[in-house]
Amino acid sequence: MKTHTLLMPLDMHLHLRDGVMLENVAPLTAYSFSGAIVMPNLVPPVDTKEQLIAYKERIMAAVPNDYFEPYMTLFYKNYDRAFLESVAEELTAIKLYPAGITTNSEGGVSSFDIEEMRETLQSMSDMGIPLCVHGETDGFVMDREAEFMSIYELLASNFPQLKIIMEHITTKEAVAMLDKYENLYATITVHHLLITLDDVVGGMMQPHLFCKPIAKRPEDLDALLSIALEAHPKVMFGSDSAPHPQHKKEACGCAAGVFTAPIALQLLCEIFDQFGKLDNLQAFVSDNAQSIYGICPEFKEVVLEHRPFKVPQTYAGVVPMYAGETISWAIESVD
Ligand code: NCD
Ligand code: ZN
Repeated sequence: MKTHTLLMPLDMHLHLRDGVMLENVAPLTAYSFSGAIVMPNLVPPVDTKEQLIAYKERIMAAVPNDYFEPYMTLFYKNYDRAFLESVAEELTAIKLYPAGITTNSEGGVSSFDIEEMRETLQSMSDMGIPLCVHGETDGFVMDREAEFMSIYELLASNFPQLKIIMEHITTKEAVAMLDKYENLYATITVHHLLITLDDVVGGMMQPHLFCKPIAKRPEDLDALLSIALEAHPKVMFGSDSAPHPQHKKEACGCAAGVFTAPIALQLLCEIFDQFGKLDNLQAFVSDNAQSIYGICPEFKEVVLEHRPFKVPQTYAGVVPMYAGETISWAIESVD
């Protein structure tokens, strides 16, 4: 049977939540990933050193038997340099949300005034702290990411040494930006390599495929596939796995977020294998992220096997993408 081995997989954009949800979902990622960039959009958001340290401890307590490194992020505010210096040891990146643009982002940035942001962004640049950005405006839903490109340009040109990560990109416009500014990078989810808006609302509405940013057009999917499959050196895998309880997804007013953590590597193997690009998957799921973030995860070897795997209906009350369906790769072993 055909197998494929991945070393030290990294998920560079992950929602682990808190409390019981954290206890249920963290082990699923820790099983097959060496580490993950953990998003700070809790309620209230992670925006103090004490919260950051305490949250990391709760994550570690939720994954007692596995080696797993939570790479911590702070919720972007206009922090001063002294604060950033005091917390730099504990964090890997800072995550910027435009105010109100997605789940738990109400305290985000409401105006991109470069002068107001300068002390924070210049300090981050000087200290080598990457800025992760949820890049959407509050415009028409299909245009939000493309409209945000001018803000990426503003940030990238004003802070040319700051590493800026365009999170979970979904459009050909974002793909084109990568080659325009040396300091722009991107994460791509697995669901955005598989679906378009058609899959979400083209037939019966699929709440478990509804997320921010919404999946876009076929030409956008093609653009994302082209850079992911080639493992463009500025592109990393970030699942944006965003668990919500089943009743919050299958509801009038469906929460945004696709839950993919336990099946992400299997789906990535399926996609890369289908295009004859399995050899590039290692760079996409780990090597590129290691170079971009300058991180060095501990050893973990995941062997995947080309055989049918039936995706469970739920993982502790959270419905995964492709629940109940059969996918073509499975995890064989983890060492
Ligand atoms: C995320 C969540 O649920 O926290 N939702 C989503 O649709 N991706 C937030 C985010 O990354 O936008
Ligand atoms: Zn996210």
